[in-house]
Amino acid sequence: METRNKLLLLACATFSIISFVKSQNQQGFISLDCGLPSNESPYNEPLTNLTYISDVNFIRGGKTGNIKISAETDLVGKPFKVLRYFPDGTRNCYSLSVKQGTKYLIRTMFLYGNYDGLNTSPRFDLYLGPNIWKSVDVLISGIGDGVVEEIIHITKSDILEICLVKTGTSTPMISAIELRPLRYDTYTTRTGSLMNIAHLYFLNSDKIIRYPKDVYDRVWTPYLQQEWTHINTTLNVSGSPDGYDAPRDVITTAAIPTNVSEPFSFTWNLEASDDETYIYLYFAEIQRLQPNETREFEIAANGKVYISYSPMNFEEDTLFNPAPLKCEGGVCLLKLSKTPKSNLPPLLNAIELFSVIQFPQSETNRDDVNAIKNIQSTYQLSRISWQGDPCVPKQFSWNGLSCNVIDISTPPRIIALDLSSSGLTGVIPPSIQNLSLLRELDLSNNNLTGEVPEFLAKMKSLLVINFRGNNLRGFVPQALLEREKDGLKLYVDENNKPRGSSEPRSRLVAIVAASISSAAVVIIVLVLIFIFRRRRSSTRKVMRPSLEMKNRRFTYSEVKEMTSNFKVVLGKGGFGIVYHGFLNNEQVAVKVLSQSSTQGYKEFKTEVELLLRVHHVNLVSLVGYCDEGNDLALIYEFMEYGNLREHLSGKRGGSVLNWSGRLKITIESALGIEYLHIGCKPPMVHRDVKSTNILLGRQFEAKLADFGLSRSFLVGSQTHVSTNVAGTLGYLDPEYYKKNWLTEKSDVYSFGIVLLEIITGQHVIEQSRDKSYIVEWAISMISNGDIESIMDPNLHQDYDTGSSWKALELAMSCINPCSTERPNMTRVAHELNECLEIYENLRKRRSQGSNSTKSLVDSITSISDTPSAR
Ligand SMILES: *[C@@H]1O[C@H](CO)[C@@H](O)[C@H](O)[C@H]1NC(C)=O
Ligand SMILES: *[C@@H]1O[C@H](CO)[C@@H](O)[C@H](O)[C@H]1NC(C)=O
Ligand SMILES: *[C@@H]1O[C@H](CO)[C@@H](O)[C@H](O)[C@H]1NC(C)=O
Ligand SMILES: *[C@@H]1O[C@H](CO)[C@@H](O)[C@H](O)[C@H]1NC(C)=O
Ligand SMILES: *[C@@H]1O[C@H](CO)[C@@H](O)[C@H](O)[C@H]1NC(C)=O
Ligand SMILES: *[C@@H]1O[C@H](CO)[C@@H](O)[C@H](O)[C@H]1NC(C)=O
Ligand SMILES: *[C@@H]1O[C@H](CO)[C@@H](O)[C@H](O)[C@H]1NC(C)=O
Repeated sequence: METRNKLLLLACATFSIISFVKSQNQQGFISLDCGLPSNESPYNEPLTNLTYISDVNFIRGGKTGNIKISAETDLVGKPFKVLRYFPDGTRNCYSLSVKQGTKYLIRTMFLYGNYDGLNTSPRFDLYLGPNIWKSVDVLISGIGDGVVEEIIHITKSDILEICLVKTGTSTPMISAIELRPLRYDTYTTRTGSLMNIAHLYFLNSDKIIRYPKDVYDRVWTPYLQQEWTHINTTLNVSGSPDGYDAPRDVITTAAIPTNVSEPFSFTWNLEASDDETYIYLYFAEIQRLQPNETREFEIAANGKVYISYSPMNFEEDTLFNPAPLKCEGGVCLLKLSKTPKSNLPPLLNAIELFSVIQFPQSETNRDDVNAIKNIQSTYQLSRISWQGDPCVPKQFSWNGLSCNVIDISTPPRIIALDLSSSGLTGVIPPSIQNLSLLRELDLSNNNLTGEVPEFLAKMKSLLVINFRGNNLRGFVPQALLEREKDGLKLYVDENNKPRGSSEPRSRLVAIVAASISSAAVVIIVLVLIFIFRRRRSSTRKVMRPSLEMKNRRFTYSEVKEMTSNFKVVLGKGGFGIVYHGFLNNEQVAVKVLSQSSTQGYKEFKTEVELLLRVHHVNLVSLVGYCDEGNDLALIYEFMEYGNLREHLSGKRGGSVLNWSGRLKITIESALGIEYLHIGCKPPMVHRDVKSTNILLGRQFEAKLADFGLSRSFLVGSQTHVSTNVAGTLGYLDPEYYKKNWLTEKSDVYSFGIVLLEIITGQHVIEQSRDKSYIVEWAISMISNGDIESIMDPNLHQDYDTGSSWKALELAMSCINPCSTERPNMTRVAHELNECLEIYENLRKRRSQGSNSTKSLVDSITSISDTPSAR
């Protein structure tokens, strides 16, 4: 019996922090009848009274089909009598306006009904945005047979795209799409979204229950096994505040084992044997108990007992597993067994089963998407590939676009747009300037009119512009010509060139162009120049050791000189004192090993070796070192704003870090740790992740420091290494502490503690608190259901419940006592990015009315500017 699970069950059941989205009037519902002619739209479906509308305004392609009429089709609901099928294009996408950061039940339905007379079941892939959702195989065993795919998913932006992708010879088709908003705090997952397996209630009948009886329009199917007996009540059962709101007809029925001495058992299968599952159990005592009667039973999943439970009298209650479960061989078993003191059999009113589905690929940057869609509608481009996400997945990216796709958790960016010879008319649209990372723009050989717009000069990333073969009037603006000096390659018709100007004048480019004829090569060179320029300009802003002195070995006397004979102390580390210094007029931090530290030399060597080997923007970099007899020193880049802990405790003075600033710092630190875990070969465990080891630079960029305890671990057969336990009290992974097994998940634990610090502003260990350890404190606060008192009061409530709740959940999952249950750092960074997105988008929307938003920059400038670091 794991007490933590029990506690979280409780905690989750008592939370009700997020606004109530009860959809009494189909508010927020989207019900599309695919293929419905627009002159028949909208209509009320008589059985459910749901209002369906035609899908024509949400999709560009496709044709309408009608299922074959037969006696049985009379039984088929109206939304399934017509459908849309997609003979053209590989990917066809529905584009729906939704609320960003909202939890939706999303249902797609496919009823083939031999609409094409071929009598073969269509097979195709269903995508949610850039991610695969399901490979659909529409059965044709009976005329009324269809397939329903349903997920519970939080929208990442204000557009939801549902795509059908041709995978073989059959034609994708779809009958209906339904979206229903849910309460944000219901159906939560550690990671990913929920894929529906079943919503069941217990009755021997074929009466499906959905809207309007179910306010969220979940579709409850009756189900009863041989071994069970149905019971019911006509009395009222009161709802629960946790928001699951089972319909009356569902909660007033229940199943008990027919043989009252037997347990109640239920098994189900997962599609893949390593799928994770969530179980939602609905309970209410629906029999009037006599004083001498007790109903109590143990709830066990896959043989593990979670809780002893008594249903509440005529009151609904929902229990679920807060952490996902795996089932051996994909076969899951739920067992309710009565306890010795119980004289009544176990009872279950309803059950919902889900498996976890991941949608890991980030959508393309929202501003880029808005801009390119704006361009698309301006020019009324009806290219068949221009549907769904512009950049990802790569095989479906839009024709004429090039994108920069770094990894799945980074939103892709559009970097080249080629609309040459596309029959474009009209002017060059201003929305192009919102493609802020665009490098190449080719609009040649169209019929564009108007002037060459001046805004192009402001697009700093542009390297190549081609407007030849259009009807543009006037001269190219002077500002744009100026950009040619920076290496911009500008191709315009002769009549648009001011007298005296010529093609690219940059000397370097001219030389290159003279010696190399291939245009492609010129572009490559331009890119190189661009990168070179970027580097140069960034060295001016950010302190960065020049190449020649990087990783240099220094003598002790040089170290002495650097630090003006160890004049200014910045701080004390575990194995020595950190001094402020100057190296070639640039500030550095110098850690000098104390001679009394016997252990120090090993840590010193570890750190030098590691830092010489690894380089990442979120790891503090080594400028040099000194190894001269007994005199050991490490010279690092200087981090202006010291460590994160100082900012959380207000030791730095000035205003406190705001919520988005905090999230950014956590994301960057997470990326640094992720790099150690998966970017380095061999992978490393930091072993001492804590808030004092996260340093902040001039732009408040976060870097991880102090690698003295880091160890490499091997991947493959060996999943952990045994070491002597090291680290800092409070941050130490209890599993590592107990077993001496070191895995990268130990860093995840420590990072979870840092996250808690950032969220709560609390110290990790604080004797004056009722619960002195931050973890115990947080758990007790959560179980009191008190989110506001968890959050750092210094944030002055300037955060949103969505992102703070998500961050808190993430922190709790990082500190799961069982290391295998913790997410990896890639997932952590991804989730934090999502938190930031949720918050920023909310703020953007809020600030449209007022301009009172505080930015990270505000807080930087108001923090006192005294140099200090490490
Ligand atoms: C059906 O829904 C409409 C609004 O969508 C509502 O006005 C009407 O009262 C509903 N009828 C029934 C019988 O629920
Ligand atoms: C409720 O249970 C009674 C027997 O106790 C049965 O006759 C009746 O049909 C049940 N109601 C439903 C809706 O199943
Ligand atoms: C059940 O609830 C309904 C609506 O709240 C109420 O009208 C009815 O009197 C209640 N019945 C009983 C038996 O309490
Ligand atoms: C009910 O279950 C008990 C315990 O498993 C068993 O001994 C008994 O024979 C069963 N009764 C019937 C009627 O099957
Ligand atoms: C409870 O007491 C009643 C009499 O008040 C009796 O008929 C019944 O059998 C008892 N039930 C149990 C489970 O002992
Ligand atoms: C560019 O993007 C901003 C913010 O998303 C938007 O307000 C603006 O209207 C866009 N400009 C153009 C020209 O599309
Ligand atoms: C280009 O536009 C001009 C003016 O609208 C028109 O006269 C001409 O026919 C167009 N040319 C092409 C190739 O579409």
